[in-house]
Amino acid sequence: MNGPAADAGLDTLLADIDAARSQGLAAIAAASTADELSQTESGLFGRKSVLGRIKQGFGSLPAEMRATAGRALNEAQQELRTAHADAADEFAAAARRTQLQQEWLDLTETPPGPGRGHLHLVTQTTERLEDVFVGMGFTVSEGPQAETDWYNFEALNLPAAHPARSMWDTLYLDLGERTELGDGEGGEASSVVLRTHTSPVQIRVMESGAPPIYTICPGRVFRRDTADASHMPVFHQIEGLVVDRGISFADLAGTLEEFTSAYFGKAISSRLRPSYFPFTEPSAEFDITCVICGGAGCQTCQRTGWIELGGCGMVHPNVLANCDIDFEEWTGFAFGFGIDRLALMRHGIDDLRDMYTNDIRFLSQF
Ligand code: DAH
Repeated sequence: MNGPAADAGLDTLLADIDAARSQGLAAIAAASTADELSQTESGLFGRKSVLGRIKQGFGSLPAEMRATAGRALNEAQQELRTAHADAADEFAAAARRTQLQQEWLDLTETPPGPGRGHLHLVTQTTERLEDVFVGMGFTVSEGPQAETDWYNFEALNLPAAHPARSMWDTLYLDLGERTELGDGEGGEASSVVLRTHTSPVQIRVMESGAPPIYTICPGRVFRRDTADASHMPVFHQIEGLVVDRGISFADLAGTLEEFTSAYFGKAISSRLRPSYFPFTEPSAEFDITCVICGGAGCQTCQRTGWIELGGCGMVHPNVLANCDIDFEEWTGFAFGFGIDRLALMRHGIDDLRDMYTNDIRFLSQF
């Protein structure tokens, strides 16, 4: 079938294909959801679609016409497939965006109001103290909370049955016959205690490294005490230890004064009173100006104008010898005071127990 009639037939066919192509593209563009888009599929690509039916009629066409019309039909179909796939991709991407929008979590989110936690006052105080001493050139050391008799007492110049042991109401651990903690130079397996002070960390530091030593040891300590306004069976201390050549009592006094003004401010000063501790000679008690009354005298300081913070002194030669340090060559000072008491002083709190009853209304003030 050649000639004008055939040409007219081909033109009509090509116009039909083009119309189906335009309608298909319009149907794809009109779909506003993924579901609507998939409903267009059989109308675009199925056997009964307009293009499908045109294709089925190809069998009766002359070969030349079939080739031209076939190319046009393939192109139209390809164009529709591409447009359909693009639209499907767009719907999938939009769905994903919606899902992400619904499911995102802001991990940096700060809930409004009082829901935000912070470090406990004792932890804050410990960190401040560490900052002050690190600023003065000290390192920070730690030791175990369960200690052998050797570290807690004996190496600190407190041999068994020394009367001064009664200065500490000690909690003993029942671990059976032997301990895994090691006994330093004590030889025999001895009893294990919950450390009554941070002073045993001094021994561990001196055993593990040679002088010069400038360190502080903050930590939890335990005593067999009944809780009251100024005592808790579990509390915190900070120990200080300096061992170097030519260290004198003046270095101790100067360091404590320096610490006091760095921590409490220039208005508060410190004083030392003669005292006794088996691990220091001479020994002293360390007082600061009462922060409540500024030194004038009040109920908190029992009208003395001073508050006792802890003990200190020159490290006893026996203690240095117990750690294999030559006390002819090296001298040192040490101090130890209560962190909880320091926090109490700084914030004018009058009952130590408030720090540990975990009443959030109290704790959130600091
Ligand atoms: N460990 C003592 C106590 O808990 C405090 C103390 C006194 C520590 C004198 C020292 C010191 O380092 O030299 O009561």
